[in-house]
Formats: sequence, structure tokens, C-alpha cells
Amino acid sequence: MIYARIAGTGSYLPGSPVSNDDLVARGIDTSDEWIAARTGIRTRYLAETGVTSSDLARIAAERALEVAGKHADEVDLIIVATSTPDFIFPSTATLLQSKLGITNGCAAFDVQAVCSGFIYALTIADKFIRSGSHKCALVVGAEVFSRILDWSDRGTCVLFGDGAGAVVLEAAEQPGILASSLQADGSHSPILCVPGNIAGGQVTGDPFLRMDGQAVFKFAVRVLGEVAHRVIEEAGVSADSIDWLIPHQANIRIIQATAKRLGLSMDKVVATVDQHGNTSAASIPLALDTAVRDGRVKRGHRLVLEGVGGGFTWGAALLDF
Ligand code: ACO
Repeated sequence: MIYARIAGTGSYLPGSPVSNDDLVARGIDTSDEWIAARTGIRTRYLAETGVTSSDLARIAAERALEVAGKHADEVDLIIVATSTPDFIFPSTATLLQSKLGITNGCAAFDVQAVCSGFIYALTIADKFIRSGSHKCALVVGAEVFSRILDWSDRGTCVLFGDGAGAVVLEAAEQPGILASSLQADGSHSPILCVPGNIAGGQVTGDPFLRMDGQAVFKFAVRVLGEVAHRVIEEAGVSADSIDWLIPHQANIRIIQATAKRLGLSMDKVVATVDQHGNTSAASIPLALDTAVRDGRVKRGHRLVLEGVGGGFTWGAALLDF
């Protein structure tokens, strides 16, 4: 039996933390009290002009490869989850391949599932590896959401940040990823979207992120609870055996409500939303790498990773680290 196991993790946050008070100083009509009470967010990181998702992805990927003890040319599959690609095309994954100096011609493509993107990418890579066709996948979530924010809309611009997280997934005889589940329901697309496009050399429609916050909140809490239960059931393990829940980092209240639905105490939950804000597809691998490096997540621990995002899309993976 072939499994896919995480051989190394890495992440990268650009620049210095930008506090809620820094946003006030930049002229946004908000306060540290409002943002912290509603979301748990205290700081986020914002990439400088010209720094792209593939730039952030490169550093996160190099860190993951170093931990995994792999040379970049051993990678035979690259999947980048992003909703803020460098270009419409080429894909961010092919740009990352080039920036890493990989010349072996390995497959490289992007996945667009917004904040669930990393779970989608991880699940796809797991299936490639389990089929026996690939042995070493680089799975990355990378975003520069600051580029698609309307900085005059205080209801959204305070929530997001930029960053990247990566894992090296390798073929192994022992698990590994034990179960995963991906879902989507396109009928909810209007509650969280960037409804603009490019046509005839012009941006048509609205180029910025728009959200019905309360509708997203309710939807997220419901589906995150359900999908975590689904992977626990599919893996045939008990909920008590979960060492860490590592959810998408959108809002501490969504994270707390999900943990409650799973009967998990908050000491079994990795939460980085206070420091990173919502980094969309990057948030789960960023949280994972943070907890690996600070010693919370250890080899042998059982993890549930889960995310929900625009589309709507959602999913979860249960794995032994
Ligand atoms: N600072 C101060 N006041 C604000 C701000 C702000 N940044 N933003 C909105 N307000 C005001 C509003 O104008 C409104 O004022 P009013 O009552 O005078 O009209 C008041 O605060 C309440 O606004 P609501 O939108 O009703 O606030 P709510 O309690 O719903 O909180 C929030 C908004 C934080 C967005 C919440 O709905 C939420 O967390 N939703 C989840 C959405 C989310 O996390 N999305 C991330 C992307 S999706 C994903 O990753 C899955």
C-alpha cells in the first residue's frame, strides 16, 4: 500500500507585522477593539508592491524542501493553491518551478478554490502519490490578498493578509494521509466573490473582494463541523485520537464554534489568525508550519486540516504527521 506523508513544512510572511492600530494610522475607520473582538485578528503581513504569490511561495517551498531533506529536482509534481496568481497565465506553479531552478520537467499547475485551496491541492497530490505515478509533491498555498482588497471597505480590508505555506508530500509505506473530503456548492458564490474580469484590455465589473460577512460566518461554521466529522468517520478513527485541529484561519469565532461542534477543547486547536489574519489558501500550511516549528505538532501526531472558502468550496484531510 502506498501512502502520502508530509516530509517537511515551510512558510513565509512578507515584511513586518501590520497591527490594527497601524491600519487606523493609515486612515481606515476602524479600531483594534472592533477588529479583535469580532475576528481575533491583531496583526497581518502585507507584501510590498511588486512582490507576487510565486515570490512568497518560493521561500516557503525552499524551507519545506530543506526540512524534508530533498533537493528541488527530486520534486515530480507542483501544485499551488492561489486565488491571487501572478498572472492569468502562466500558472503560479510553473513560475515557482522556474524560481526553484527545477529543470526535470515535472508537472506543475494551480488550483483555485479560494480559502479551501490548500485542502484541494493536498487531496489532489495525495491521489497522484497513492496512484504510484508520482513520488514527491510540493503543495503550496500562496496569496497576496492585499491586492484584491478595497481599502475603503472597512468590513473586508481589515480581515486579510499575505503569505505562503508549503508542504513536501512523499510516497511512504506508512500513513500519511488517511482520509480526505472535498465539496462545493456554487449556488452560494455571491456571498463571497471578486466579481470582476478582464475583457478588451479593461477590468470589467468589480475587481475587489466583496462579502456578506454574516452569511459567510453561518455557512462556514456549519460545513466545517460536518466535513471534519466526515473525514474522521472515513478514516475509521475516534475523535478522541485527534491531537490537533488545524483549520483555515478566517476568524477566531468560526474556529471556536467549529472546535465546539467537534467536542475539541481550544488547546487542541492551532490558531494563528491573531498574528496572520486571513491568508486564504496559505492559512492552513502557515498554521501547520508555525505549530511544527514551535514544537506543538510532533511526528506521530494525528491532525485534521480543514478549510472553507469562496465558491463555496470546503474540505478536510485527516493525517498522521
Ligand atoms: N471597524 C469598525 N466597525 C466596522 C468595521 C470595522 N473594520 N467593519 C464593519 N463595521 C461596522 C459596520 O459598519 C456596522 O456598523 P452599523 O451597525 O453602524 O451599520 C457594524 O460594524 C456591524 O457590522 P456587521 O457586518 O454586521 O458586523 P459583524 O458582527 O457581522 O462582523 C465580520 C463582521 C467580522 C466580517 C463577521 O461577519 C465575520 O467574521 N464574518 C465571517 C467572514 C469571514 O471570516 N470571512 C473571511 C473570508 S471567508 C473565509 O475565509 C471562509
